[in-house]
Amino acid sequence: MLGVESSCDETSLAILENGRVVRASLVSSQAELHQKYGGVVPELACRKHLEVLNPLYQECLARAEVRPGELDAIAVTCGPGLIGAVLLGVAFAKTLSLVLDRPLIGVNHLEGHLASVFLQEPELEPPLVCLLVSGGHTLLVHLHDFDQLEVLGGTRDDAAGEAFDKVAKLLGLGYPGGPLVDQLARQGDPAAIAFPRPMLDRGYEFSFSGLKTAVMNELRERPGLKVEDVCASFQAAVVEVLATKLLRAAREKGVRTVAVAGGVACNSALRAELVRRAEPKGLRLVVPSPALCTDNAAMIARAGWEVARLGWSSSLELEASASMGLDFRRLDCPDVKFSLKSLP
Ligand code: KG4
Ligand code: ZN
Repeated sequence: MLGVESSCDETSLAILENGRVVRASLVSSQAELHQKYGGVVPELACRKHLEVLNPLYQECLARAEVRPGELDAIAVTCGPGLIGAVLLGVAFAKTLSLVLDRPLIGVNHLEGHLASVFLQEPELEPPLVCLLVSGGHTLLVHLHDFDQLEVLGGTRDDAAGEAFDKVAKLLGLGYPGGPLVDQLARQGDPAAIAFPRPMLDRGYEFSFSGLKTAVMNELRERPGLKVEDVCASFQAAVVEVLATKLLRAAREKGVRTVAVAGGVACNSALRAELVRRAEPKGLRLVVPSPALCTDNAAMIARAGWEVARLGWSSSLELEASASMGLDFRRLDCPDVKFSLKSLP
């Protein structure tokens, strides 16, 4: 299964064997390109995707030692994301599907992030509750089965990663801000500033824009603050909210496995807090490796493989979509039935 991901500022291709073995996974990041603008510039992102898709494909085949004809299917992110960027990946995948005469499988990027959990631990089985935290999304998902999921809650405003990026911008740290805040926070005091814990006691919804405003006010009122302390205190507030809600969902839904996915799942404080709080409760905690948390095509191939197992593929009419919630179910598509020869 070839995976293609181009929904934001990473171009990625991966080849997955039997849904488990990552034969090759390549990510070409554009972070440097967008850095001086403090965020992703869609036009630049598209040009870069176009430039690297084909060379990356050739390199992916070489690394995996796979010939094009040996590919069984092509899974591609069809949304959500920057529309031009998603379109390029979809056009690339459609072309391959046509030329190689192999099925095309449209994958919801968010389902890709969920699938990263199963790449990390191939023996894992649902049910589980997953906290999906990325630059664009903050979702608590109850995965009842591979093809049955329930969104328990999302964010009312900023996504967790967006909050990290905006706070980094306020501090003049650069883009993407999450990893920079994480790094500086290590030298700071998480108790230095008592930032609010938005909606901590209320259900499964999130809200981070007030917290960002609180950081802004604090910086204005106390100009002498240490950047490291601001980072550590802000991060502690986000982490407490995220961890508390994930563990609450596990308790209330009666599941024994919890997982995190998405770029923010790379955060060292979040990872440590989950280990600290999940294990004493006897919960199985799955935290994918950082390379599986940030955008990558291996997770897209893994999610596509799950669709393939159900015997479905997309038609060449597959459309790219900028916004697509997790409630978009792949089986709602007017898709084509097929079967993969490599499937068990
Ligand atoms: O999943 P991802 O690679 O792309 C999206 O689908 O959005 O997530 C990117 C987000 C960015 O907001 C980035 O700042 C954040 O993940 N991120 C982090 C860390 N590493 C990446 N946030 C906090 N701590 C980190 N270590
Ligand atoms: Zn993502």
